[in-house]
Amino acid sequence: MKRSVDEIVASRRMRRNRRFDWSRRLVAESSISANDLIWPIFIIDGENKRESIAAMPDVERLSADLAVEAARMAVDLGIPAIATFPNVDLKLRDNDGSEILNPDNLINRVTRAVKAEVPDIGIITDVALDPFTDHGHDGILQHGEILNDATVETLARAAVLQADAGADIIAPSDMMDGRIGAIRDALDEAGHAQVAIMSYATKYASGFYGPYREAVGTGGLLKGDKKTYYIDPANTDEALRETALDIEEGADMVMVKPGMPYLDIIRRVKDEFEMPTFAYQVSGEYSMIMAGVEKGFFDEERVIMESMLAFKRAGCDGILTYFAPKVAKLLSEQ
Ligand code: PBG
Repeated sequence: MKRSVDEIVASRRMRRNRRFDWSRRLVAESSISANDLIWPIFIIDGENKRESIAAMPDVERLSADLAVEAARMAVDLGIPAIATFPNVDLKLRDNDGSEILNPDNLINRVTRAVKAEVPDIGIITDVALDPFTDHGHDGILQHGEILNDATVETLARAAVLQADAGADIIAPSDMMDGRIGAIRDALDEAGHAQVAIMSYATKYASGFYGPYREAVGTGGLLKGDKKTYYIDPANTDEALRETALDIEEGADMVMVKPGMPYLDIIRRVKDEFEMPTFAYQVSGEYSMIMAGVEKGFFDEERVIMESMLAFKRAGCDGILTYFAPKVAKLLSEQ
């Protein structure tokens, strides 16, 4: 006897595929592997020195020798790249962030040390002035304004110095207009045509950066906010226009930052541009999860892995995350 439409619909069973572990694995649409991870690490002067960061349990600032060890561990875990963020001696910070132009500054010393000892890891360096300025802004401050073009000029010179030291990918996190093109030109002119650019294409004026500012020591310094150069959290189309410009100017990869509050942006960027697309699961996202874990609200492994899948599902090719070594370890134990 022929079944009615109602009967056919009633016999549908979405739960069939969810019945067994093997069938769930078989139909899984997204997955995470160590290959998807970039590990941001905080660096400091000194030797055999590690400092904890109150708001970021299990994350430390490391001196160059320990950063080399961290890079070695990353390679052993199958993590393709690290991204370095310096906590610069306060005495070296000034209005223009001039220490960024010291070829032997903390970032460049660590890059050289890691490249010499761990040649198989990719090194991503942040080119931004905030760890170097005494006001905590990402640009040169004049009469209460962040100067765009003067900042871009400094960033382009700093990028060349970072590439000279051995950086594989330059990642400008400052959001000045025109910086990608200027950095590309400067790198090419200096013979660094092979060095890539990962643009922080959509960086939002977010409250989730708080713990990072403790980590690099800019929190107490920052005067005002970064709303004149980072994107307003209310905007989506603007993020796409910004990303389009960065790609036109020569970005090889694009990033959305922060991550979890902006999964919609990741999806739109990936669909629109089909570029290698990354998310930065920022310090505040890390601290939020760890605070929940410490309070006993979450199962640590579950929520960390779920957050990784969320990024992959949204369209990310990779994720910058302070959880990178934890995730890679969990994956290697599976
Ligand atoms: C600034 C910069 C920020 C982060 C990295 N570089 C944001 C800021 O301090 O305004 C945030 C990283 C994080 O929160 O994990 N160039």
